[in-house]
Amino acid sequence: MIRTLIRGTGRYVPERVVTNDDLAQWMETSDEWIRQRTGIEQRHWVSETGETGTSDLGLKASKTALERAGWKPEDIDLIIFATLSPDIFFPGSGCLLQHKLGLSTTPALDIRQQCTGFIYGLATADAYIRSGMAERILLVGAEVHSTGLDISTRGRDVAVIFGDGAAAVCLEGVETDEPIGVLASVLYSEGKHAESLMLEAPASRICPERITHEMLDEGRHYPKMNGKLIFKLAVTRLPKITMEIMEKAGIKTLDEIDLIIPHQANLRINQFYEQALKIPEGKVYNNIQKYGNTTAATIPLALDETIEKGIFKKGDTALFLGLGAGVTWGANLYRHA
Ligand code: ACO
Repeated sequence: MIRTLIRGTGRYVPERVVTNDDLAQWMETSDEWIRQRTGIEQRHWVSETGETGTSDLGLKASKTALERAGWKPEDIDLIIFATLSPDIFFPGSGCLLQHKLGLSTTPALDIRQQCTGFIYGLATADAYIRSGMAERILLVGAEVHSTGLDISTRGRDVAVIFGDGAAAVCLEGVETDEPIGVLASVLYSEGKHAESLMLEAPASRICPERITHEMLDEGRHYPKMNGKLIFKLAVTRLPKITMEIMEKAGIKTLDEIDLIIPHQANLRINQFYEQALKIPEGKVYNNIQKYGNTTAATIPLALDETIEKGIFKKGDTALFLGLGAGVTWGANLYRHA
């Protein structure tokens, strides 16, 4: 049967480091509050001079992934680009990246699933590959959050948690009888919670203009979040989906999983998750301390780090999982070959 394997990974974060103390100059917050509530110590944001879009970060990560896979851009059959912060309203960042890679007509698909963008992207890529619709896919998760955050005290609950960054993976279909590559995926969404974490405007449903001066004054073009609800949903659903995907893949105990890369929205969420499933120390990989929440970039960014550091080795099985705006949640199980 055809299995989907990762052939190369790459990541890129902008050079500018923004510490919690930096944030405290612009809003009423403190290093202590941010560390205690979220675990975040710093994040990377694009330069204040502007001109850096999500596809630019994606391009840098993609070049590394392509090089490590030994692919030329022309080898790609399909680009899947996961982001909630596209360069422009439309067309999608996948099209912009396609052009920046020097490609002429390679198809490009954007995925708008926020923190589960990479998980949905990997499940979609796997389906394309196993159905024979594509052999080689470049999957990118990238975000430029910083240019769209309210960095005044009004927006502090959201602004302190987000960072910019990108990561990419080269995925290839291989005919094999071995249980390797993507073993299983599980996806969910529950639109009734859409307003619990959203960016409301500009929006096509607002007439006659897509955003009004009053809305700008009220800050309705910034993301709004019911943090407590999202936290509660994450700590209850992530353990559940872990058991579900293990069952789907025929994995009986957590001992058979070598590495867990959960989405990095809040270190406390991941600690609750570890406690709920009594996961042995060291199995869950966290890097939120350095990057904050980079949404669709988070899981591939951590994946790239774990491969580079030799934590995720050939033969190991990894679980990727997360929950975010939508709300959407999901997981993939992957065996490194
Ligand atoms: N600095 C200092 N004080 C703050 C800050 C800040 N940055 N932000 C909020 N506060 C204050 C509040 O005003 C409030 O003060 P009050 O008690 O006087 O009213 C107090 O701190 C507590 O505020 P809460 O919002 O209730 O704080 P909470 O403990 O819930 O932590 C947080 C907020 C960190 C955002 C948390 O709710 C969380 O992590 N939620 C989950 C986030 C998540 O998983 N998102 C999904 C992924 S993102 C995506 O999909 C795009």
